[in-house]
Amino acid sequence: MKMDSSHIINAHYGRAQLSNTILKSLEDAGKDIAALSLDDLAPMEEFHIGGRKATHQLATLAGISSGMRVLDIGCGIGGPARALARYFGCRVIGIDLTKEFCFAGSMLTRRTHLASRVTIINASALDLPFMNAAFDMVWMQHAAVNIADKEKLFREIAKILRPSGKLAFYELFKGAEPIKYFPLPWAGKDSMSFLASVQEIHDILKKTGFSTDTWTDTTLDAIQFFRHALTKSAKHGPPPVSLLTLMGPNFPVMAENVLKNLEENRLSVAAAVFSFTP
Ligand SMILES: C[S@@+](CC[C@H](N)C(=O)[O-])C[C@H]1O[C@@H](n2cnc3c(N)ncnc32)[C@H](O)[C@@H]1O
Repeated sequence: MKMDSSHIINAHYGRAQLSNTILKSLEDAGKDIAALSLDDLAPMEEFHIGGRKATHQLATLAGISSGMRVLDIGCGIGGPARALARYFGCRVIGIDLTKEFCFAGSMLTRRTHLASRVTIINASALDLPFMNAAFDMVWMQHAAVNIADKEKLFREIAKILRPSGKLAFYELFKGAEPIKYFPLPWAGKDSMSFLASVQEIHDILKKTGFSTDTWTDTTLDAIQFFRHALTKSAKHGPPPVSLLTLMGPNFPVMAENVLKNLEENRLSVAAAVFSFTP
């Protein structure tokens, strides 16, 4: 039986009862779940290379400022959306295809008292449920890797961004060699990983009305990040609150496979900002 992409994504990311698992792991780690802070959640709610630090760097690069209307596409459990609202003062809508991530994200948003500035919706990047020109900025971190039809993705983004709006884009790309090591955090196997080359992304974005403001290759930083995290975890065991809570006990193998693919030039990483001129 052929499964559609929503089923495949939900099967990969959506552990049943995720909200309860998250709260239990926080309690086990000694956190007060009646008074959660973004610092308590950071090790598990930022599901991309570099964690919260990478979110701050991209926000600074993109010039995010107070009052902006931001759409986070593939927002996961909403960690970056809450950080943008809390630390930069913007209003953020996050959309994600994984239902359990959306339930958990909404629960954590309420518990961190950010519901007036952050909303999380279960929707697809390929069918955005918003009015034209509704956002000042679109934000994407490690979500395009799951989306095969990049042309459609950027056409959808172009519809809902206002003229001169920005796209903040922190993604993984094809390296010089094919990917060899699976599972990866975004794909159990090759058939659900949709990496584009850097050139392909530039070509599609240009065709859709985007021009490049900044492009920073962060592959070496990514290698260092994984080496440090994996060495620490091998020495002390995984931290009590971590991405294992979201992705299960196999997460360290997934992280190690990202590192091996990066080291062998099978993957690259970049943070970029684009301007939209229709
Ligand atoms: C690696 S996670 C990154 C989550 C988040 N951006 C972060 O950095 O914390 C990728 C996310 O993309 C979401 N995703 C994949 N395909 C999608 C689609 N077509 N529409 C919306 N979300 C999607 C997944 O459900 C998952 O939450």
